[in-house]
Amino acid sequence: MAVSPMITIKSRREFEKMAVAGACVAAIHRAVKEAAQPGVSLLELEDISRQILAERGCQSSFLGYHGTYPATLCLSPNDVIVHGIPTDYRLKEGDILSVDAGAIYEGFHGDAAITFGVGEISPEAQRLIDATEEGMWAGIRAVRHGARLGDIGAAISEVGYRHGYGVVEEYLGHGIGRQMHEEPQVPNVGVRGTGMKLRTGMALCIEPMFNVGSRHTKVDPDGWTVRTADGSLSAHWEHTVAITKDGVMVFTAGEEPLPVEEAPERVAEQI
Ligand code: CO
Repeated sequence: MAVSPMITIKSRREFEKMAVAGACVAAIHRAVKEAAQPGVSLLELEDISRQILAERGCQSSFLGYHGTYPATLCLSPNDVIVHGIPTDYRLKEGDILSVDAGAIYEGFHGDAAITFGVGEISPEAQRLIDATEEGMWAGIRAVRHGARLGDIGAAISEVGYRHGYGVVEEYLGHGIGRQMHEEPQVPNVGVRGTGMKLRTGMALCIEPMFNVGSRHTKVDPDGWTVRTADGSLSAHWEHTVAITKDGVMVFTAGEEPLPVEEAPERVAEQI
């Protein structure tokens, strides 16, 4: 999206700030997921996010983005892939909802998304959610010093294709630091051994979007809301991942950075 600054290499101190921002994003996800019951409106979830940002001394990465984004969350139900604007829509049993949040702490960003069901959801919807999370973790495990960008997209898309899902190509992962969107862009499809070499000090957002149907997308007249072209369900997962001197760390999975070795191997095995 838009003009991105160069690739930036972060110091230990800068990564510490990103970890605080990441913990704030994780706290927003926990609270919003718990609150997202049938009958609750998307604007009520937005309020929860604003409260947690304020409590933790963080600013929103999203509010005012591109001069126009009006909220601190992107809330993307059902066939919305990404960038859904919080409205007075009330959640209903069987919906799936993607919650994307971004926080800034002392000038450094954290950015992550989760997708979950509201009340009881169909087995088809749950499979989509789990496969998309699995694709994200496969991409995250491809991140290391000396790996190449194409390794990430290859790992993600293999999971999506194995499940028969459309893997969205128009929206990509990205570098992150003092800006939410930095170079490099991180495609969700790719060829192993190709593309830029990754190195210690880089931080990347790994963010696959899988559709039950085709990979194609369309944008609503509001200029933000991205939907599946065929109206099928879509899921989105994202974490902020750093290549530190102590190893690869996920900053947006909880209160503390999560070493990638402790990440789930297959999501379904965890459930
Ligand atoms: Co992102």
